[in-house]
Amino acid sequence: MVASLSWLLGKWRSEDGFGHYPTLKDFKYIEELEFTHIGQPNIQFTFYAFNFETKKPMHREVGFIRMDPETKKVAFISAQNTGLVEVEEGELAAPQELHIQSHTVGRMTFGKEPGVKEIKRTFKMVGDELEQVISMATSATAMTEHLRIRYKKM
Ligand code: HEM
Repeated sequence: MVASLSWLLGKWRSEDGFGHYPTLKDFKYIEELEFTHIGQPNIQFTFYAFNFETKKPMHREVGFIRMDPETKKVAFISAQNTGLVEVEEGELAAPQELHIQSHTVGRMTFGKEPGVKEIKRTFKMVGDELEQVISMATSATAMTEHLRIRYKKM
């Protein structure tokens, strides 16, 4: 059922993450991703980011990816260590290119401002590297790119 997403499976790492946003100073980051499949109709993932200079843990996400067997619609369900939960949905734009966008974002009542309103991601293979690009809209800024990173298979 999730065979058409099998190109995501495995462990990926990048020391070349680029973060930016109109309200932030540009930054570099390290990130490790793992996508696993245990025979259920879903893929489980962990995304762990680290500070480029100090190597200290930063942003972390855990979640699941599901695909509707009939419509081939993809759902990406994520919980983040910043207190955010989100469901993004979308589809394969090409055999190894996934485009998704949040329809639900939940946050803690005591989360930091500005709050995230909407998130968009693309995952795609570029040669033998996996690229992830994340854009977001917050309560203060319209939809703008926040992260761009290419991972190598570990
Ligand atoms: C800042 C959201 C992933 C690093 C922010 C801000 C938001 C945000 C709302 C504050 C923006 C502002 O003040 O205008 C998200 C979301 C993510 C994500 C929704 C995933 C879907 C990441 C990742 C990193 C990262 C993977 C990698 C290290 C940062 C840094 C800042 C920041 C360094 C500025 C300092 C801070 O506020 O902590 N992010 N972020 N973010 N983000 Fe992300």
